[in-house]
Amino acid sequence: MNFYTYLMMLSIGSALWACGGGTKNAGTEQENPAAKEEVSKGIGEVKDIQLTDPLVADLVRSGKKSYETKCSGCHKLNDERIVGPGWAGVTNKRSPEWIMNMITNVDVMLEEDEEAQKLLEECITRMPNQKIAIDEARGILEYMRKNDEDQLGSKDGAAR
Ligand code: HEC
Repeated sequence: MNFYTYLMMLSIGSALWACGGGTKNAGTEQENPAAKEEVSKGIGEVKDIQLTDPLVADLVRSGKKSYETKCSGCHKLNDERIVGPGWAGVTNKRSPEWIMNMITNVDVMLEEDEEAQKLLEECITRMPNQKIAIDEARGILEYMRKNDEDQLGSKDGAAR
């Protein structure tokens, strides 16, 4: 090996080393933006919901019944607002826990949860407390997931 080859190998070596260091830094930098943005779980008893795919048909059925009797006066299934926001896309925007806390703990959510308060400012009307139990709310959540699957072809975008 002559002197020039030796120099060339040295410089390639140090270039590789520098590049390796650079890649490592870039990697560390990427970790933060890549980490999924924290989606609020809201305030209430519901802390951790495990979703299943495919949907649970019985839950969808009970949720549909609840929707028709207790929610459809104010919420459409598409993205049109009547009294409250339309439900299309809600599972891609809100975590399942937030949705269930909004349904079962609406008074506190409207008082204390930032996102719920923003909605109240837009909608002006307060969503009423209908004393929905957690089991019933779980059915409604499943029905919302079914609605997003049917209408948009995508659901659970905000589930962790
Ligand atoms: C009298 C009208 C009314 C009824 C009935 C009603 N809601 Fe609402 N809902 C609202 C309003 C208005 C908002 C927006 C927040 C506010 O202004 O209180 C809302 C917000 C929501 C949100 C948040 C939506 C989003 O885009 O983040 C969910 C989830 C929800 N309601 C679920 C339900 C469920 C489930 C029922 C039936 C059990 C129901 N609501 C019944 C008026 C209503």
